[in-house]
Amino acid sequence: MKLHRLLPLLCLGAAVAALFGCSRESAPTPTEGSPRGGARLRLGFLVKQPEEPWFQYEWRGADRAAAQYGFEVIKLGVPDGEKTLAAIDNLAALGAKGFVICTPDVRLGPAIMQKARQAGLKVITVDDQFVGPDGKFMADVPYLGMSATKIGEAVGAALWAELQRRKWPLAETGACVVTFEELDTARQRTNGAVAALTAAGFPANRIFKAPQKTTDVPGSFDAANILLTQHPEVKRWLICALNDTGVLGAVRATEGRGFSAEHVIGIGINGTDCIDELRKAKPTGFFGSMLVSAPGEGFRTAEMLYHWVQRGTPPPLDTRTTGIFITRENFEQVLQQEGILP
Ligand code: GLA
Repeated sequence: MKLHRLLPLLCLGAAVAALFGCSRESAPTPTEGSPRGGARLRLGFLVKQPEEPWFQYEWRGADRAAAQYGFEVIKLGVPDGEKTLAAIDNLAALGAKGFVICTPDVRLGPAIMQKARQAGLKVITVDDQFVGPDGKFMADVPYLGMSATKIGEAVGAALWAELQRRKWPLAETGACVVTFEELDTARQRTNGAVAALTAAGFPANRIFKAPQKTTDVPGSFDAANILLTQHPEVKRWLICALNDTGVLGAVRATEGRGFSAEHVIGIGINGTDCIDELRKAKPTGFFGSMLVSAPGEGFRTAEMLYHWVQRGTPPPLDTRTTGIFITRENFEQVLQQEGILP
């Protein structure tokens, strides 16, 4: 499926500054209205990790939808359950009619939906799908996210292709799979990568999982470090994870143990959180990423919510996005084509 094309965007510095400025304090007050007198439609866009470029780019996409359709988007970071529930109260107080959310914990789904229903707010989930008390996805809440297994499989296939190109001996190679299995989309991605690697012929007994406690660079750095200590016999490492951040932490861990870029192939997912890494003058072990359009996801979910609230058109319950492989060779060009870089 073709990714969403984007119109020219604001300059990065200004956009990022604006995004970080979006907080409870910078949100409009309930008394503000449109110039025509009627209150302007307000929709929320809540994300679990506002510091991650992926989510900043989603917000940029939501801003574009807001500009196109003439509504106001209230962007809030919700790193935990307490902040999420407080954010819903704030949205209700501001007269918002709904919100898009990437929840900090998928098990908050029932509590979020209860609060949203009480406040008359429509909800669309993005990236991380709510899970109900029975452990099953809350399939009645509209969701848009990655085709996680397929994207993971593409990572595994790309790792294998690069290993073959470098003619690495399998007996010296290990695969470091940084996992976060409590999150379904994350588990599906890393399982997909493992499945593709083994299907291609990579020995299953040389694939090692490194569970990360937190989904940030320190979390994956620590997880990979433990694994590297346990396997001093491995001379060359393949690395994958749920996203770019997971691979970045593991690459930093290999560097700390003296592995050079020639001995590491790391492939991430997102394509938004590795731009600085791929721009480095000297190549690192971070070889590439499966780029998915974060601005496209932000735009589409905000647009779907707008149509739902404004015209009563319910969104599809399940929408999936696919990826494009980027490396140092093509990332500037692909990110420009996708409207992610100016
Ligand atoms: C999860 C990850 C993000 C990003 C999104 C994409 O939320 O934490 O980094 O990969 O999925 O769907």
